[in-house]
Parts: sequence; structure tokens; C-alpha cells
Amino acid sequence: MQVAQQVARKTELIPEIIPSGKSCGAEVTGIDLAALDPATVETLQRAVLEHLVVVVRGQPISDPQLIALGKTFGELEPPGMSIIGKPYLDEFPDILVISNVMEQGIPKGNLGSGEAIWHTDMSYRPKPCTIAILHALEVPPTGGNTYFANQYMAYDTLSDELKQKLDGLEVIHDETYNSGGQLRKGFKEVTDPREAPGARHRIFRTHPLTGRKALYLGRRRNAYIVGLPLEESERLLDQLWAHASRPEFVWHNEWSAGDTLIWDNRCLIHRRDSFDASQRRMMHRVQIRGEATQ
Ligand code: OGA
Ligand code: MN
Repeated sequence: MQVAQQVARKTELIPEIIPSGKSCGAEVTGIDLAALDPATVETLQRAVLEHLVVVVRGQPISDPQLIALGKTFGELEPPGMSIIGKPYLDEFPDILVISNVMEQGIPKGNLGSGEAIWHTDMSYRPKPCTIAILHALEVPPTGGNTYFANQYMAYDTLSDELKQKLDGLEVIHDETYNSGGQLRKGFKEVTDPREAPGARHRIFRTHPLTGRKALYLGRRRNAYIVGLPLEESERLLDQLWAHASRPEFVWHNEWSAGDTLIWDNRCLIHRRDSFDASQRRMMHRVQIRGEATQ
């Protein structure tokens, strides 16, 4: 491309945030993910704070470009333990591959082709990752959509009685299984949730940048509200999960290759539909170093 054309193209780009009109989600247009200037970075950060999850469509980026994009949100966090016991990409250990592709019987990524249940990323760590960025390299023709539910809204609409009852209580966030139900390498099956390995976090957390409270559940499997009789914890967690994922809190993304999603795990839960196992889905993800929950 000629220099004059490059300049012309740059000046044409006017960043724009287009809200989904749902409880969360926005598309950002008028930016170039391969040329991260201050206006782009500022727009993306503002869009994520205001809309919780943001999509940028149709811009294929390389692994170093994905890493550069991640670093505009903070330091990168190495991903959780994979199902093969080591990073999927030797050259880029900070990248987590989400894929159903197998080569010679070895998975090339986590989560397979089944449903990934509602969850928030890496909450089994004391400092869970804040932002996650997922970039689609290959997607199946149908299925594999990703859904997000606004947990500020979930908190705001809880009954006063539940808010009071649960205020200050902590939940154990089990590390044993990933959201696809796959056992992480090196972990043993859990029979009693009270003994699940993983961090404890307050069930209501305050987002440090917005000051708003959000319901923070992590994932359902092996969760336990510390201090309650197990049966009561189970009953309350079932009730809270049904509430957290109510349709009016949800927006979903239908993927095309080259799309990038950026979301804030401090105030969202997400899940993924299953898809035809004979189709390929290949996504690369980075996640931003977390902070202690408050
Ligand atoms: C993730 C995740 C869902 C998807 O990357 O954290 O949950 O759509 N992925 O692949
Ligand atoms: Mn996830």
C-alpha cells in the first residue's frame, strides 16, 4: 500500500461503540486491531467498562497481535492447567487454545465440541483474571455461539432478603474441572464440594473501576457457600444460578472467523453452545492478570 493511501485509510477510521441494545454487549467499529493507537485503546477500554463485553468483527490477527492487544489491558496471566498438562502453543505459553481439533489423538485445545456451562474464567485462583480476549481463527457453520449474562443486574435484582443473608459470605471455586466438564491434568475427582481445591471469594464482589457490586458465582460444579450446611448451600446455589442466567441478563455472539471478543470476568458469566463435532472450531485466548476480589 502506498503511504498516501495508508494515511487516507487511517484518517477514515473513526472509532464507534454500537450497543447491542441488550443487557450487555457492544460492537466496536472504526478501529484496526493490528494498529493499536491511543484512540483505539481508549475506545476499547471504555466500551468494555460500559458494555461488559465487546466484539470486533472480521479482523484476523496473529498471535503476537493478540498478545499486544491483551497487554493494552494489563499484564498477561498464564492460562489455567490445560487437559494435556502443558501449554498448547510452545512459542506462546500465555495463549490458551480453545478447540475441538485433535491431531494424532491429542487435543489441540480445551473444551472439545460439547456445551461449556455457565462460568467465569479462572475464579479458582485467588486473583482471577479480569479481562479475557478470545479470537476466532476457525468456526463451525452453526453452533458454538457464546452467551454472556450481566452480573451487576443479577446482583441488583436479588431480593433484599437474599442480599442480606449472603452479604460477606464466601464461595469455594473448584479448580478440578474446566467449563467443558474436562478434568484438568493432575486433579482428582471431587466427591464433597466442601473439600474442593480452589480459591474462596465473596459471593458479591465490587468492581474496582465502576464501584458496582456483582454476583460472583464462578461455576456451579463443586461450589460451596462456606459456613452453611451442605444441603442449604446446594439449594441456595441452584436458586442463585437460575437467577444469574435469566434471559433478560443475556446477550450472545454468533461467531465468524476473524472476530474478537473482549469481556470482563468481574461482572459477567458466560457459556458456549455445543456444535457438530465433525466441524473445526479454533480460538486463541489471552487473559489479563487478575486482582484480589473485594
Ligand atoms: C473461554 C470460553 C467459550 C467459547 O474462552 O473462556 O469460555 O466460546 N470460551 O469458546
Ligand atoms: Mn470461559
